[in-house]
Formats: sequence, C-alpha cells, structure tokens
Amino acid sequence: MADHVLLPQRGPDEAPFEESLRPRRLSEYIGQEKVVANLAVFLQAARARGEALDHVLLFGPPGLGKTTLAHIIAAEMGAPIQVTSGPVLERPGDLAAILTNLEPGGVLFVDEIHRLGATVAEVLYPALEDFALDLVIGQGPAARTMRLALPRFTLVGATTRAGLLPPPLRDRFGIVHRLDFYDPPSLERIVDRSAGILGVAIDPDATAELARRARGTPRIANRLLRRVRDFAHVRGEERITVDAARWGLERLEVDSYGLDDLDRRLLITVIEHYGGGPVGLKALAATLGEDQGTLEDIYEPFLLQHGFLQRTPRGRVATALARRHLGFGDCRQGSLFGVDEG
Ligand SMILES: Nc1ncnc2c1ncn2[C@@H]1O[C@H](COP(=O)(O)OP(=O)(O)OP(=O)(O)O)[C@@H](O)[C@H]1O
Ligand SMILES: [Mg+2]
Repeated sequence: MADHVLLPQRGPDEAPFEESLRPRRLSEYIGQEKVVANLAVFLQAARARGEALDHVLLFGPPGLGKTTLAHIIAAEMGAPIQVTSGPVLERPGDLAAILTNLEPGGVLFVDEIHRLGATVAEVLYPALEDFALDLVIGQGPAARTMRLALPRFTLVGATTRAGLLPPPLRDRFGIVHRLDFYDPPSLERIVDRSAGILGVAIDPDATAELARRARGTPRIANRLLRRVRDFAHVRGEERITVDAARWGLERLEVDSYGLDDLDRRLLITVIEHYGGGPVGLKALAATLGEDQGTLEDIYEPFLLQHGFLQRTPRGRVATALARRHLGFGDCRQGSLFGVDEG
C-alpha cells in the first residue's frame, strides 16, 4: 500500500496536523449524533448541579474521535484535563501521584485503558467509586491502610478493545459510548470543515469522493485531503477538482470503497485459499503473514461493518459484495474460482 495512507492509526508526524483540525467544542463535533445528544444532556445536567460528570468510557476503532471527545468533555465542563495512558501508568504509585494532583471537577483522560495493569487498576477502583485512595502504610503485621480523600473528578477512558477491560473496571463507568464508523455525509462535512481550516478550495464532488474512500474514519478523511491537496498543487491547480482527487487517490492506491492492499489480500485469501470461508482468524493471519491482533483491530471492523466480511461461529466468510468488488463474480461457491479469474 502506498505509504499506509489508509491506516487508521495516527502516523508518526501527523500530530500537529491533527491537532490543528481537532474540533474543540461539542457543537463542532460532526456525526455520532446519538453520542453527542446524550453527552450534551449529561454535560448540561452535571453543570447545572455543579458536579463532576460521571465517568465516561469511549470505545471504537482508531481515528473515530475518542481523544477529540475527551478534550471536548473537559472543555464543555470548563475543567482542566490531565492526559495519560494505560501503558504509561506502570506502577500503582504513578496513578496515585496523578490522582492526588487532580483538581476538583477535573478530567483524567486515560487512553488505551485496556492496557492498564491489574495492580494499577486496583488503585483506580476506590478512586472511581468513593473518590478515595487506599494507602498501605508499613509492612508485615504492623501494616495498616489509610484512606485519603480525593477531589471529585471525571475519568474518561478510551479504548479500541472494550472487550479486554476487566468487568469491575467497565462497571464503574456511568456513561459508556461506542463510536461507530462515519457515514459519507458526515465525512463530507468533516472534509469541508478541514478544507476551510487549511484554506484549500475543494469542489463538492471531490469532497464526496474523499468521503467515500475514507473507510468511515475522520482521521483518514483528513489525511486523504492533505495528500490530494499536494497532488493538486503538483498539477499546478488552485482548487481540488474531482479529477485531481481521483488522480491522487489512484496514485495512493485507494480503491473506490476505500480498501487498501491488505484489505484486498485478506478478502482474496479467504476467497481463493479457503473457498470463501469460513476460516479462523488465526489461520488467516498466518496465511497473510500478519499479526492476528492487527487484523482484528484494524482491518476487520471496517470490512465487517461494510459487508465485505462476515463473522460466523466457525470463522470469517467473504460476502457476495467482496466477490463482486474484487471481480470474482457473484457466486457463493468460492472454491470454484481460480486466481486467473480474479
Ligand atoms: N466528529 C469529528 N468531527 C470532526 N473531526 C473529527 C471528528 N472525530 C475525529 N475527527 C478528526 O479525526 C482526527 C482523529 O481523531 P482522534 O484522535 O480523536 O481519534 P481517536 O479515536 O482518539 O483515535 P485513536 O484510537 O488512534 O487514539 C482528529 O484530529 C480530528 O481532527
Ligand atoms: Mg486517541
């Protein structure tokens, strides 16, 4: 794949670019209507009561706006935000230090919260439930615990793997929201908004083209916009026309559904090697020479959601849409189709 342009994770030098495009307030946050509507109510109620917002868990595939939403929650509460992540909090003391420094009503954002270690999570439970920190003082028979009161705060946890959260942790979130892939109209609004911020002119049909191929992911939509802008400039064009957009997308090897090379290889493997499936994820990962977790977290969600792949109790199955899209013809007997027909 050209330059991993469709990977939903953030690229190594993308931080400043993303930062500049990040919506700051709930009213600027495009799409995810249900999540936004619910949060607006909870935020308003918490503000009216002068209380901290309930703890919030945000989960869903990468690049859909979890971090953005965490910052928006703090902004809407008019509260400071402290940012950390599961893998950074190595020892219970790391978390205790952060908790004791929180301001009343403040937001603690823990990214990749599924990677929080068990001993660190133990510190978090009383903090979330009772706003207290249990300190163990001394050792052996003389040891005793002392309870330290913490200010009321809001934990916002984000994860791409909600299934990996220990149930006791999951249960302590009063507000749980799953972010879904964005529909093309929402992505069009995101591309338009970003083009405005970047000061690039883009035709509506070019916007639609980018939105269609962005894998339902704002991060990818913004990235495609940036790359296509470069292509337009190279062609000496002032604005991004649909021609320039298509030309650029072709060079980036982004197909009409926003599938990349690995997506296509994955589907072709299911169809050609496994007769269309069902095939277990482990076998599939081995055949592709890819990490199982990467397939499960990064590739599968989009393919499942868009009907290219189906998950059955016996494994993954390629759908009729996948066959059609990849030129295998619309037939359910995958094993009948050889490489030369593809
Ligand atoms: N609803 C939205 N409206 C407009 N832009 C958005 C929206 N959601 C995300 N974006 C844009 O997409 C980019 C990626 O979003 P963000 O970093 O919040 O994703 P994430 O879910 O935290 O990803 P990861 O799982 O990789 O941490 C942001 O820079 C932001 O500009
Ligand atoms: Mg994030």
